[in-house]
This record gives sequence, C-alpha cells and structure tokens, in this order.
Amino acid sequence: MSVPVRKILSLAGDGIGTEVMTATRRVMDWFQSTGRVKFEITEGLIGGASYDVHKVPLTDDTIKQAMASDAVLLACIGGPQYDTLPYELRPERGLLRLRKEMGLFANLRPAIVMDALAAASSLKADLVRGLDIMIVRELIGGAYFGEPRGIENLPNGARRGYNTMAYATHEIQRVARAAFELARKRNKRLCSVDKANVLEASVVWRDEVTKLHKAEYADIELSHMYVDNCAMQLVRTPKQFDVILTENLFGDILSDLASMMTGSLGMLPSASLGAVAADGRQAALYEPVHGSAPDIAGKGIANPLAMISSFGMMLKYSLGMGAEADLLDKAMQNVLSAGIRTGDIIEPGQTPVSTNAMADAIVAELKKLAK
Ligand code: IPM
Ligand code: MG
Repeated sequence: MSVPVRKILSLAGDGIGTEVMTATRRVMDWFQSTGRVKFEITEGLIGGASYDVHKVPLTDDTIKQAMASDAVLLACIGGPQYDTLPYELRPERGLLRLRKEMGLFANLRPAIVMDALAAASSLKADLVRGLDIMIVRELIGGAYFGEPRGIENLPNGARRGYNTMAYATHEIQRVARAAFELARKRNKRLCSVDKANVLEASVVWRDEVTKLHKAEYADIELSHMYVDNCAMQLVRTPKQFDVILTENLFGDILSDLASMMTGSLGMLPSASLGAVAADGRQAALYEPVHGSAPDIAGKGIANPLAMISSFGMMLKYSLGMGAEADLLDKAMQNVLSAGIRTGDIIEPGQTPVSTNAMADAIVAELKKLAK
C-alpha cells in the first residue's frame, strides 16, 4: 500500500515557538513511523524570526511555499524586542498578511475542557466540566483589515488613529456557511455574536446570517447575542453554547476568554481554513491560540498541547485522518489524567514536566493505544 505524502510548511516563529514545534515534531514522527502518512516538511520563517534575517516579518517566498503545501503548521510570533519597530514590520503583520494572502476566512477555535483539567479552570469545575464549544471567528475582514485606516497628525499637534469595521454580504456568508456546516455535525445550535445595537457592520452581519439560515440551514437552531452579553454568558454558563460565530475582533477577544475555561491558554488549538477549490484543495493553517510567551522562552517548560492539538486539527481537517486525530486526543487526555502536566496546568502535589517530556509522554501513550 502506498503511503500518502503530505507537504507541510512548518513556521516556528518566535519565543517558545521552536520549543513547542520541536515537541510537536516528535508526535508527527510517531505517526510517520506507523506508516500511516509521510510528511514532507519545509521549514520557513515568520514574525521576528523572519525580520531578523530578511528585514520583513514575512517574505513572498514563504507565502508561495504556504500556498504550495497541503497545510501550514505555525507556532507563534512576537517579542518585546520587536515592539518598537514600525507598524508594518511588526511580527503580527506577518501573520495577518499570511492569513489574508491564503484567504483563510474561517478560524475554528474549539474550547474543550478535558475531564482531568476541569479543576485547573479559573471557573468552578462544575461550570466547565464537559465543556465543548466551537468558536468560529471571521479572520480576514472587519477592523483588522478595513480601509481607511491610519494615524494622522492633527493641526493642533495631537494625533488621531482610526480603523474601519466593515463587512460585505459575501464575507459574512462564507464564514457563516462554515459555521452552520460545523453546527450541523455537532449539536445543531449556532449563536451569532455581534453588536447590532450600535454598529452598522453588525446590522448587516445579523441580516445576512438570518437570511442564510432561512434559505439553507433551517434545521439549525440559530440565536443572536450582543458581544458584551456573550462575554458575560461565557463566564456565567458556558455550556449553553455549541457553535459561536463572530467577526474578527470580537472573536479574538472571546476566544482568549474561552481559553481560560480549559485551564490554560496553553491548551487551545486553532484551524484557519479557506474556500474549497474546484480540485478539492483547501488552504489551511494550524496554530495554537497562545502567543510567543517571551517570559518563558528557551526554558523548555512551555505547554506544547495547544500546538500538538493544532496538529490534531490538521489531521482531521486537512489530511482526512479523523481516526488518528481521535487517537491523539485520547492520548492527550490519558496523559493529563495520569497527572503529567506542564507548569501552567499543574495541580497541588504534581511535579511539572518539560515541554519535551510532555511530548514524549504523549508518544508513549500513542504507542500503547495503537497496539
Ligand atoms: C490571535 C492573535 C493575533 C490576532 C495577533 C498575534 C495578530 O491574538 O491569533 O488571536 O489578533 O489575531
Ligand atoms: Mg488573540
């Protein structure tokens, strides 16, 4: 039987990026060693790492490589040494440009509380035990990309910074469709989050989601919620949600909030997907929600689970390896249940393990489970 070869672009980025990526490679190597898949991995630079070499946070070459791969695996970007760079050269700009050029409009951010970690959440364990929410964040529109934008000097010597939050019909439809499709495979409930009591961009958002629901997704239970209320509801009774659909900036904020329910920002993976082309190909990028954590970079103590489960999402959404993704989930759960924890999710009486030790424990568990 021939083993499928998958082209992966690996972008470790900055800070703890190299450490969590190295740990994830151990898990990828194990899947290769079983003969289920072969990875052809190219390594590239993004963020500060790219700036250090090329004086830009992302090169055209890297974009080309990303487009030519089956999936991109990205760790994290940014660091204090880049904070004083002109805005266009900042690490964040590299990531935003990559998302935009790859057309990744649908950002899937699952917030799942593993049983073993219910006590590690900052909310009461009962509120979050069994939690399984999918946040679908629009990723290449809204205030992040809207024009006009800029900083201008005013005649009185003051400055004025401004951005534009705008959404057109097709931008809303394509991400809403992605969210409805996911809801259909889950508990068939979708909550669309906006600020339609204040923002015109949200008025159009709500109208378009409602129209699409009527036309194509009447089997899904649709509700609408203002973003401020949603933030409150998420910490009050998070389990009321199944799929949350929202625009770019709201999704950025709500997904960080949701991550804390899972015990640590170090737990949340994400998938960013583009449109499915006629030949079936779909641009896809997988990255943890967490940042580059400069304060612990280089110490080998970062939690690699968000990165490893981002790889799990890649198995499921890009490589058609859903069974393997489930196997990986199970392995992570077992390892956590056994009390193997990195420092960010440690509980009293446990000794923190290193980034690589966590990866090794997962590989050992995979071996056991696969027997
Ligand atoms: C995220 C991050 C990014 C964003 C930054 C690093 C540009 O916070 O992926 O949530 O705002 O989208
Ligand atoms: Mg964010």
